[in-house]
Amino acid sequence: MAKKAKFQRPAGMYDILPGDQQYFQKVYSVCENIANFYGFKKIDTPILEDTNLYSKGTGLTTDIVQKQMYTLRTKGGDYLTLRPEFTPGIVRAYIGHGMKNLPQPVKLYSIGPVFRHEKAQAGRYRQFHQFNLEVIGDGSPVIDAQIIQVFYNILFELKLKNLIIGINNIGDNQCRPYYKKLLLSYFRGRVESLCVDCRRRLKESPLRILDCKEEKCQRIISQAPQIIDHLCNECHRHFKSVLEFLDEIELPYHLNPYLVRGLDYYTKTVFEIFLESPKKTEDKEQFARNALVGGGRYDSLVKLLGGEDEKASGGALGIERVISVMKAKEIKFPKSAGAPVFLAQLGTMAKRKSLRLLEDFRKAKIQVAESFGKDSLKAQLTMADRIGAKYTLLLGQKEALEGSIIIRDMKTGRQETVKLEKVIKEIKKHLKK
Ligand code: HAM
Repeated sequence: MAKKAKFQRPAGMYDILPGDQQYFQKVYSVCENIANFYGFKKIDTPILEDTNLYSKGTGLTTDIVQKQMYTLRTKGGDYLTLRPEFTPGIVRAYIGHGMKNLPQPVKLYSIGPVFRHEKAQAGRYRQFHQFNLEVIGDGSPVIDAQIIQVFYNILFELKLKNLIIGINNIGDNQCRPYYKKLLLSYFRGRVESLCVDCRRRLKESPLRILDCKEEKCQRIISQAPQIIDHLCNECHRHFKSVLEFLDEIELPYHLNPYLVRGLDYYTKTVFEIFLESPKKTEDKEQFARNALVGGGRYDSLVKLLGGEDEKASGGALGIERVISVMKAKEIKFPKSAGAPVFLAQLGTMAKRKSLRLLEDFRKAKIQVAESFGKDSLKAQLTMADRIGAKYTLLLGQKEALEGSIIIRDMKTGRQETVKLEKVIKEIKKHLKK
């Protein structure tokens, strides 16, 4: 029985074991290839940022800032926070590096870990990875549609089917204040029937009540005034235009008047991408609740964080959530081939020569596996079998003295002896067959 480890990983945080790395590599490479195609450039920002950046950027009324940040005090007395999302850090970098002077819009992507102290449960981790896109310096509706298209294409390329895009427009500084007032007076009249969280939300951010999943709140929400009926002309025009672009590229969306998102900076378009209601109930529980991608437009954030009045839009994909769907749906992709050659050795002199030979193979860019720590030939051949090597090279005491080596075809069992200095050339010939 495995010994119980003395130290446990932190709750909600996971080791990504070698067996799972192929999923991460696949998702990373699809995300990066597609982002590059659409003209996005990679940016890496620090994992720790000034805590105020998130209080201001992500927003004081959000669950992230109120409950979920990992904050530490440095020896110098500053407060830094492990990034709970990418957007404020990227906007900070855009402003600080004067990217306003680059041709606009600036299209940026990032991949990496983010940290939120959430209640750990299926699909909700405390350290997870996001693939994040931002387009800063452009207010056109076509940008919103294109961001949705990029995420949709990534999921499609990863063979995720039955995707559905939920979309809404939550207004801007022109029309939202009035809608908020309407909502406030509607919910105030029904405060007794709201859940505890929604009573708190009523004071801080009444719009977020619309997102509540509690049954008793749902009944009230379904009768609430809808933002779509109260958008200003500009937001209305913008929304209509985004939907027309989505129609043009034939993306399946559904209008969700209750989609408000949990971050303070959004204006106009907000969206999420889900798997469409799966048939099996347990799938429904796990996946329907959890968005794979979320994002939207944030036309006031750059100015709020000290920049000029730049409009922007973006979104982020949750990599662990995408991988868990890939696994549950048994989505397969070609495994990267293992080493085609295994180098087995027997005896001290052979081991010495093998060490040098391995370097020659590396320079010739031929992947060779070995197990130099093992002395038994049988154990080495078992290893060669296990990794699926096509050829095993056998270097024993006799061969080491003669300056030769045996090439064994692992499929047919045929063996031939060649001169040691010719072995790379011979293996190249064999691998070409
Ligand atoms: P978000 O909706 O908070 O948006 O997160 C985006 C995605 O990250 C979610 O759709 C989900 O797939 C994944 N995610 C969020 N929380 C967790 C969690 N606890 N465990 C696992 N996965 C999770 C943002 O972060 C915005 N910054 C997106 C954005 C960029 N908007 C504009 N630009």
